[in-house]
Amino acid sequence: MLDELIAQGVIRKLFAWESELLAAHFLRLDPDSRRCRFAAGVSDDTVTAYAATALGADAIVHGFFVDDVLRGAAELRLLPDSAGEVAVTVEEDWRLSGVGSALFGRLLLTARNRGVGNLVMTCLPANRGMQRLAARFDGKITFASGDSVAAVTALPATPISLWREMWSDGSAVAAGLIDRQMRLARGGRRRRKPGVEA
Ligand SMILES: CC(C)(COP(=O)(O)OP(=O)(O)OC[C@H]1O[C@@H](n2cnc3c(N)ncnc32)[C@H](O)[C@@H]1OP(=O)(O)O)[C@@H](O)C(=O)NCCC(=O)NCCS
Repeated sequence: MLDELIAQGVIRKLFAWESELLAAHFLRLDPDSRRCRFAAGVSDDTVTAYAATALGADAIVHGFFVDDVLRGAAELRLLPDSAGEVAVTVEEDWRLSGVGSALFGRLLLTARNRGVGNLVMTCLPANRGMQRLAARFDGKITFASGDSVAAVTALPATPISLWREMWSDGSAVAAGLIDRQMRLARGGRRRRKPGVEA
């Protein structure tokens, strides 16, 4: 499966009240990545203001969490005429291990189940990473007025694709709980004095 997750972490949809997590993730991106994401150099204030409105009713955002910190995001913005706009960001230390592809796979499934067939993503022509990622999903890259536009088509929904999204959402909740328990257990072991049995 293309959205198979290799790096250790949990992918789940962000809730409307989690915009601060999204802002913190964008602010951690290095200047080059921030420019790639926003197709321009933008200030911290602009990034924060964007994140504050990014989880509205017209958007579905999947996040990649490691130890409850948002390290990657795939944003789907719903547009008229069954179209959607897409953006993916992964923090540097978690790149090249399939996280971007896993996030994009979830996003594509969500788009498909909402009847959004035509997805577009704008990126700079030098952005090889995004172009490779789009190509993994049969994206067609075109170049227009200094930008690259990757167009990806989502298949129509089926009972199986609907079931897969429900399954992914459910298993993300379970994975999040298990992840938290494991971290609590690890923390508990660290706090215990050496030589003292549980
Ligand atoms: C683009 C981005 C999301 C890719 O994330 P990632 O987690 O590294 O992606 P993956 O590990 O799933 O890699 C997907 C493919 O892209 C390739 N790739 C990723 N980064 C690359 C780079 N800088 N140069 C060349 N290829 C790259 C991978 O090798 C992989 O190729 P494969 O299909 O041949 O195996 C990440 O680099 C990023 O956040 N960049 C900054 C923000 C940005 O540019 N977003 C896109 C515009 S919205």
